[in-house]
Amino acid sequence: MEVVIVPDAQAGGELIAEALAALLRRRPDALLGVATGSTPLPVYRALAARVRAGTADVSHARIAQLDEYVGLPADHPESYRSVLAREVLEPLGIGMDAFLGPDGTAADVPGACAAYDRALAAAGGVDLQLLGIGTDGHIGFNEPCSSLASRTRIKTLTEQTRIDNARFFDGDVTQVPHHVITQGIGTILEARHLVLLATGEGKADAVAATVEGPVAAVCPASALQLHPHATVVVDEAAASKLKLADYFRHTWADKPEWQGI
Ligand code: PGA
Repeated sequence: MEVVIVPDAQAGGELIAEALAALLRRRPDALLGVATGSTPLPVYRALAARVRAGTADVSHARIAQLDEYVGLPADHPESYRSVLAREVLEPLGIGMDAFLGPDGTAADVPGACAAYDRALAAAGGVDLQLLGIGTDGHIGFNEPCSSLASRTRIKTLTEQTRIDNARFFDGDVTQVPHHVITQGIGTILEARHLVLLATGEGKADAVAATVEGPVAAVCPASALQLHPHATVVVDEAAASKLKLADYFRHTWADKPEWQGI
């Protein structure tokens, strides 16, 4: 995997937005896998700025959701469908007709999960999947010890993840659902390019385990080591526990700019 250490979250957002803009120049109807959480917001802001400046064209782009709470009505402000509509689709001027996501309110949850995997495949697969990482190493909502071969399915959140996400529910952990639908790790690995963004000291242990630890289900993000095109973008704080940080810095500094990530 490639590890890029950037000065701060904004620089990470700019780098990834540029990769998305370049992808859309090559493939205008690219299927972009997006993530929720605080970390990716600088990416969406930087991409929206490029759209306004006319240097990125998202008019044919399609958007795919990574995970969703089970049981929150789709129009609940914290359902991930609502969050993505607010943070990604509206600022970019992309309509819901170009959006793919699982149905978190379905009576038949396993059926909805299988239907979502089929929908992703029928759409040609995800071209670039943007990922955050949990403090416990989760990607999507694949919590520790998720099968590395897993498909989209229901998962139970760890208490730590519910506590981490309580800030979106008035700080009240009892409002955070226990269950979610998440693309499986096997599903995520099918995207053509994986880009994981991590910022802040709180992610340093998870980043070190992802990049320099063994491939192990106890750190789901370590599955990125199995992918032929995975990029980990980290700020200095999130990189602070990487033993090979200097090597990653030199490699990036010497990379021809035209190659991008
Ligand atoms: P965060 O969430 O970006 O809000 O830290 C990341 C995640 O849980 O995947």
